[in-house]
Amino acid sequence: METLKPVLAALQTKDVDHQPIWLMRQAGRYLPEYREIRKASKSFLDMCYEPSVAVKLTLQPVRRFRLDAAILFSDILVIPDALGQPVSFLVGKGPQLDPLIDADHIKQLNVANLPTHLSPVYESIRLLSLKLPSKTTLIGFAGAPWTVATYMIEGGPSSNFLRVKTWAYNDPVSFDRLIDVLTEATITHLSAQAKAGAEVLQLFDSWAGILPEEQFEKWVTKPTRDIVANIKSAFPNIPIIGFPRGAGVLYVNYASETNIDAVSLDTTVPLAWAVDNLAPRVALQGCLDPALLVTGGEAMRQATGKILDHFSSYGFVFNLGHGILPQTPPEHVDELVRLVQAWQK
Ligand code: CP3
Repeated sequence: METLKPVLAALQTKDVDHQPIWLMRQAGRYLPEYREIRKASKSFLDMCYEPSVAVKLTLQPVRRFRLDAAILFSDILVIPDALGQPVSFLVGKGPQLDPLIDADHIKQLNVANLPTHLSPVYESIRLLSLKLPSKTTLIGFAGAPWTVATYMIEGGPSSNFLRVKTWAYNDPVSFDRLIDVLTEATITHLSAQAKAGAEVLQLFDSWAGILPEEQFEKWVTKPTRDIVANIKSAFPNIPIIGFPRGAGVLYVNYASETNIDAVSLDTTVPLAWAVDNLAPRVALQGCLDPALLVTGGEAMRQATGKILDHFSSYGFVFNLGHGILPQTPPEHVDELVRLVQAWQK
């Protein structure tokens, strides 16, 4: 009988032959081979939209460290780009968009163009599914509607999210319409990735943790539940991981009300609390502090052992609590992967 790939087994809370691990943002500037391709490319989005480049970048960390999953090299902001709100990435400034100013702008967003605009992304997935080692799981992803909406209204990173919040509080009807457009776009994008060969899907809701309870329900939990229901009806066997970063105790609402298969924990979630409140409902992923991967040594080993002690007898995929930092020494990643994969419960 064919055995399940370790990441798929863990997400289905089945036995694994070793403890699986992958790392958010595992392809990136901390790798010299990434920086080399980045230097030779016109722009970040060009790398995402050129399948030969996206495939090469996706495979760099997988080959170097023998990680258990490959995550497609792309970005959550390809969705606004595909809807007709162009995105650029300026070195040192992060993503930049011409911000949405009023409800009329929302009407101009066009989901019909998305599949054509993002067809190179789906081509990358098809190529990757042919090239990956047989035990490596291919993960597709999207940003969740709330987090993508913050970038579309702020026009880039923000320190207080005042533009998006004042819009949403002042005019919830037009803001709901934006969330609906993004929900539809996310379903279209994730379905196309599943069809092209993605075996797991992850929803990044990086700014879930800045909302009060009532708005968290409306703009994080509800759209996630709609997306999960829609994907499950077409692809019942594809596990979906949700990452409502910073959700705190609302992780419980998210895990119990969205029908998601797994939650990715951020760095601040107490481990024993997650075991008591989340492990009974969903598989877990996470949650080493990315700064500990920069630090390395005994501090990294101790924190890693503590996470594994708490979670390894449940459905669990080792990961970071947020994306890998550019300052991370690749040797520390190498040590972490070996440590986790050799772990005996
Ligand atoms: O995990 C992976 O390796 C897959 C690829 C991936 C990228 N971004 C590549 C990337 C994934 C899954 C993302 C998700 C993403 N993108 C999120 C959600 C997760 C999170 O970190 O909270 C968000 C909020 C974004 C938006 C985004 N993209 C920002 C804020 C930035 C700039 C920050 C920075 O580090 O400069 C990006 C750029 C980006 N996305 C890079 C990479 C490898 C760096 C681009 C470069 O080389 O300059």
